Amino acid sequence: MMVIPPLGLGTWPLTGADATRAVLAGVEAGYRLIDTAAIYENEDAVGVAIGECGVPRDDLFVTTKLRGSDHVSGDIRGALERSLERLGLERLDLFLIHWPLPRLDRYVAAFAAMLACRDAGLVRYVGVSNFLEKHLRRVVDETGEAPAVNQIQMDPTLARLPVRRVNDELGVFTQSWSPLGRGEVLGAPVVVDTARRLDCTPAQVVLAWHRAQGVVPVVRSANPARQAENLAALDVRLTADDVAALNRLDRGETAARDVETEENF
Ligand SMILES: NC(=O)c1ccc[n+]([C@@H]2O[C@H](COP(=O)([O-])OP(=O)(O)OC[C@H]3O[C@@H](n4cnc5c(N)ncnc54)[C@H](OP(=O)(O)O)[C@@H]3O)[C@@H](O)[C@H]2O)c1
Repeated sequence: MMVIPPLGLGTWPLTGADATRAVLAGVEAGYRLIDTAAIYENEDAVGVAIGECGVPRDDLFVTTKLRGSDHVSGDIRGALERSLERLGLERLDLFLIHWPLPRLDRYVAAFAAMLACRDAGLVRYVGVSNFLEKHLRRVVDETGEAPAVNQIQMDPTLARLPVRRVNDELGVFTQSWSPLGRGEVLGAPVVVDTARRLDCTPAQVVLAWHRAQGVVPVVRSANPARQAENLAALDVRLTADDVAALNRLDRGETAARDVETEENF
């Protein structure tokens, strides 16, 4: 069974010294799951922080993602080896297909090649990101294996119930990206009222909502005080009524980023 830290530290769109500083501060605050991607062009800067942070390698859970151009090159193992080199690591914890890019129709082959990388010991877990039901079912039908993780855009206004239902059915663990809706969710009256009542912050309410759904949020802050605030959300407990009130913010699937037309190279 996959053991995964309860909260991830996002690194997009930080690069260079900003990314190194943010990851160093985050690890010092207590984050153990670091989320990067080849397309963020910060793997080298994240790798510097991993090398300098002083936390044993096996206590960290490092994720990176396959970029779109490597669906086309088909050189999945080479892409992973280059990511590992930039990160300064011998083995990755989680390798995700960043987007399915259905127009290219190469994601099943990419997933199969990533499984071979896992079997060769280069990565512990193989997963996907931004996959919808049809993409998940094809991967499972054609490779016989389910992704370990599906990392999806999710916040209380984008509860993503249809894809989460399929994740659960297939045994795919859900992670959420932009869990704070890039900050836009924090001003919703129900979020503000709940925070006031529980004597915590709006961001903590939203992150506690993710945890109440059994999801691991990947949240980004470059600010050490907010990094600590977000980690402290792990101690915030919502009641079933709080969760139900936040669930009513859901705007449905059509409000999420359109996976079919996404061109993320
Ligand atoms: N798989 C994918 O396709 C995909 C797509 C997008 C993102 N991601 C990953 O998910 C991570 C998180 O998503 P995101 O960065 O888009 O959005 P997010 O985590 O929802 O929001 C980040 C924004 O919220 C602010 N913030 C953080 N904590 C706060 C707090 N306690 N109070 C008030 N504001 C706060 C941050 O500002 P400060 O830095 O100033 O605190 C930043 O502007 C990314 O960094 C990336 O690693 C994955």
